[in-house]
Amino acid sequence: MADRRVTFTGLEFENPFLLSSAPPTESESNIMRAFEAGWGGVVTKTIGLHPVTNVVGAKAKFMRTSPDDASVSMKKRPGAALHSSWNWELISDKQLDWWVPRIQRIKAAFPKRMLIASIMAGSGNDKELRNWQLLTEAVQDAGADGIECNYSCPHMDRKDMGSNIGKDSELCSVVTEAVVEVAKIPVWTKLTPATGDITVEAGAVFRGGADAVVSSNTFPSLPVIDPATLEFEINVDGLVSSGGLGGPAILPMSLANMARMTQAFPDKAFSGIGGISDFSQALSYFLLGCGTVQVCTAAMLDSAVGPNVIKRLNAGLDAFLEANASKGWKRVEDFRGIRRDRVVLQSQIRRPEGDGYQGGYEPVEGYAAPDAAEAKA
Ligand SMILES: Cc1cc2nc3c(=O)[nH]c(=O)nc-3n(C[C@H](O)[C@H](O)[C@H](O)COP(=O)(O)O)c2cc1C
Repeated sequence: MADRRVTFTGLEFENPFLLSSAPPTESESNIMRAFEAGWGGVVTKTIGLHPVTNVVGAKAKFMRTSPDDASVSMKKRPGAALHSSWNWELISDKQLDWWVPRIQRIKAAFPKRMLIASIMAGSGNDKELRNWQLLTEAVQDAGADGIECNYSCPHMDRKDMGSNIGKDSELCSVVTEAVVEVAKIPVWTKLTPATGDITVEAGAVFRGGADAVVSSNTFPSLPVIDPATLEFEINVDGLVSSGGLGGPAILPMSLANMARMTQAFPDKAFSGIGGISDFSQALSYFLLGCGTVQVCTAAMLDSAVGPNVIKRLNAGLDAFLEANASKGWKRVEDFRGIRRDRVVLQSQIRRPEGDGYQGGYEPVEGYAAPDAAEAKA
């Protein structure tokens, strides 16, 4: 029997696979079902103090791409494959008082599974910083095992909230310090990918005392415009606003951010998110140095909490450990981070020497056929 356990920020996880903060973790019944299905942990849908009302109609939809013309659209077509999720959903529309007894009941039912409470408040003044502390104290008293500070929601109008915190290294430090001051449990911070150099904000939250960085939240994006109606595929009264892209489309971008951070802070803890639906994607994050990974889009499309996704992830990890047993790998920790140092500057990548450069004229997908005359010149 493979050993799937990981210790991450001091917490013991039965397996390194978590549901991320999103619709799969928006209710007590969903989280109970998720734990029954085998998820090692959950991060609750983000809890705030202010009342929240979502837009009319769909809060999230899925984009698919067709093999013949690579068109990306929310319209379902036969044979089309998942490209991404797009959402403009706000944080939980249930408030703190609704969540507290539910966290207590979930922890009573599943004391060994890890429940991380995602929280969010403003940052414009001392009262807002106190709100972060109120949220922290309430969820930790209710039995949460950890806190995840949401500095990453891409569709907040308020300048002092969500990804607007994650884009400001000073706010990242100040808010983290406020949370850490009252937290007796590990504090994770979920950063926005919409920033020039994410290592700046990662450094800021670590200076503020964070135990881990979580990345990525969704990337700022718009739905496409339907050529027949000239309307955005999601709109209310013809209007749309910036939303967040998740799912397979963001995997390479999220890996790039993760590689930057795990190289800059090799001794720190990272939880990887973005485009994970089976073990092969999770493995990329582990090889870059992540100690846990989180899933949203794939779980939403699998009975809302991902019972088959977690089975695939666990089975994939077991098979990987078995296939690599001869290397002495017994658990995730044994191969975590072993590809982190393979990401280097362009100038450090080998160039062909002498005649070898003709290799540049070999037929390559996306380039014109080699021109024999030019190749000889
Ligand atoms: C409909 C929807 C709602 C989400 N709500 C939250 C949220 O409340 N808090 C949060 O930190 N992330 C939220 N996310 C982001 C996800 O947790 C996750 O970071 C993102 O979807 C990328 O993971 P994926 O590629 O597995 O979907 C939401 C994502 C979706 C699709």
